[in-house]
Amino acid sequence: MANVAVIGAQWGDEGKGKVVDWLASRADLVVRFQGGHNAGHTLVVGEQTYKLSLLPSGLVRGKMGIIGNGVVIDPEALLAEIARVTAQGLNVSPATLRIADNATLILPLHSAIDRARESARGERKIGTTGRGIGPAYEDKVARRAIRVADLAEPQTLSDKLDELLLHHNTLLAGLGAETFEKQGLLDRLLELAPLILPYAEPVWERLDEARRAGKRILFEGAQAVMLDVDHGTYPFVTSSNTVSATAASGSGMGPSSVGFVLGIAKAYTTRVGSGPFPTELFDETGKLLGARGHEFGTVTGRPRRCGWFDAVMVRQAVKVGGVQGLVLTKLDVLDGLPELQICVGYRIGGEIYRRFPAAPGAQAAAEPIYETIEGWRDSTRGARSWADLPAQAIKYVRRIEELVEAPVTLVSTSPERDDTILVRDPFEG
Ligand code: IMP
Repeated sequence: MANVAVIGAQWGDEGKGKVVDWLASRADLVVRFQGGHNAGHTLVVGEQTYKLSLLPSGLVRGKMGIIGNGVVIDPEALLAEIARVTAQGLNVSPATLRIADNATLILPLHSAIDRARESARGERKIGTTGRGIGPAYEDKVARRAIRVADLAEPQTLSDKLDELLLHHNTLLAGLGAETFEKQGLLDRLLELAPLILPYAEPVWERLDEARRAGKRILFEGAQAVMLDVDHGTYPFVTSSNTVSATAASGSGMGPSSVGFVLGIAKAYTTRVGSGPFPTELFDETGKLLGARGHEFGTVTGRPRRCGWFDAVMVRQAVKVGGVQGLVLTKLDVLDGLPELQICVGYRIGGEIYRRFPAAPGAQAAAEPIYETIEGWRDSTRGARSWADLPAQAIKYVRRIEELVEAPVTLVSTSPERDDTILVRDPFEG
């Protein structure tokens, strides 16, 4: 028996939702371990399309969902999402969803700070989702955050709000934004408490029991390695660690419980928000990838920037993210292109690099070095075996495998769950 962790190997939106959904049908529990409602996972199941942000995808398959301590939870967003998917027929109740009692809460002041800071940054904005993710993680590390369990203690809430407001109102006022008043926040938290607390528990105990009983646990990553706060294109990153190691610390399990690590990558590259993107295309091909791949952010609806596959970046994501098997998605978007480019290195100030540099100046200056690969004419859409793929498409996949130094475990050829070429079962380790 092996558990499986799924993480993004680019800048997010790699199609994790479909892969997680496919794996969730074979898991017993599905665990979110970092991020918050900045994530957007689209799951197409028959006629229904589910758009999940905070809820673990396994709920769509009737599997127990766990929101781990590493997640930042906006209680309003959580309840709204529960109401939305319940209206679509899903069963979300304390019997199917558990939330870590030591997870951090996102309050309205966090999104206010997030937005105020972004507008103050002007041209240098990060392009955050504006959901308050960064400020909530900052409060957690600064040891002043309100956590889920605090909802049961009105005095704790009151004391923590005093400390939070001292900090945040000073900042908000300095940024010229509206400040918050304590009573309104406290009243709302006390109203939310009986709606959230029934879901709360020390989830590490449940996970430990599940592990000992030999249950299959699926860890569902959000965002992606190149948005990791340490390993990504800092400062154009999210505020959590998105690498597979976080599956352990963000859920309350040891690293040996994480199991097989699957990294998801698109057959090309996309990015939302600002920041370096060496293989970005500003021409007709870029537009074509965006149109064919329906490249609009699930959470914000922003058009995604599109470009060629960057093997340097994905190789780095494989290494720092601990990826053992790669899932390649949206291969069909490349159908019919006469030639494809894969980035195999960067030229920076006359030197050649085989890794993504850490300093922002070097990141912005990175010029891609391309290898050209002949495209394929026939459709790969809906392919379910290697035999269904044109020879050139197989060559493309094999070359990526070689360059990123990870075996391809799955190839996804349409948004439909079953349009997948399975090379190796991740649950078999
Ligand atoms: P934040 O996570 O809202 O602070 O945003 C920081 C950066 O991460 C921005 O560039 C966002 O566009 C990006 N980001 C956050 N969540 C996602 C996601 O789920 N997919 C893709 N990009 C994301």
